[in-house]
Amino acid sequence: MSADRWAVVDAYLTDTLLPADPVLDDILAESAAAGLPDIQVSAPQGALLHLLARLQGARTILEVGTLGGYSTIWLARALPDGGRLVTLESEVRHAEVARANVDRAGLGDIVDVRVGPAMDLLPSLATDPATPFDLVFIDADKPNNPHYFAWARQLTRPGSLIIVDNVVRDGAVADSDSDDAGVQGTRQLLASIGSDPAVTGTAIQTVGVKGYDGFAIVVVSS
Ligand code: SAH
Ligand code: DHB
Ligand code: MG
Repeated sequence: MSADRWAVVDAYLTDTLLPADPVLDDILAESAAAGLPDIQVSAPQGALLHLLARLQGARTILEVGTLGGYSTIWLARALPDGGRLVTLESEVRHAEVARANVDRAGLGDIVDVRVGPAMDLLPSLATDPATPFDLVFIDADKPNNPHYFAWARQLTRPGSLIIVDNVVRDGAVADSDSDDAGVQGTRQLLASIGSDPAVTGTAIQTVGVKGYDGFAIVVVSS
């Protein structure tokens, strides 16, 4: 079974299950034209994030790692009236493109794109009215994953959902002696999920247009 086949199936699933979405198509085109890397979640993955946010009844969402705002828009579209999404991005250029894309999607009043290294921005969220967040999506620099998870725990409440992208990375996550700081960061994050009695979490391997990867999904219980 090849990566080509995974991509063909993703295209089929997208065409069959997801309504045509000219706004999202435009946003991806704008991101590509601006030279942003093509590493956003796939359409079926974006739809999964959207469904999870709806199942969660999320009113406030925190995202770490905005890029051009593609996952941001899938998530923000799940929010009810009065909902809020705060997303953190270290690259000024990415944040500018994301702001324009979020505006294009009509979500400018709901989404707050903040620019800076997430570890510098996260402490200020402790006193933000959007805290505690109902859902946190972690998808930035992978070496910092353990720190982002610790902050997500601080900024959530019992019942909140924490989702982490890219936890499998072609299977590299299982290499205990990997010299990749991203792999080690993700392993530490997963170890802290597994050893924290106050959370219930799992990770699911995925294939598709983005290759072989996975999501961790965690419910905070206390
Ligand atoms: N969530 C996006 C993809 C994010 S890609 C989507 O699926 O649509 C990862 C992003 O994290 C990149 O834009 C990168 O610039 C940003 N990033 C990397 N290091 C960061 C840091 N220290 N703080 C905040 N953002 C960071
Ligand atoms: C990369 C980052 C991501 O968040 C992703 O989903 C895929 C790739 C990367 O940095 O290469
Ligand atoms: Mg990702």
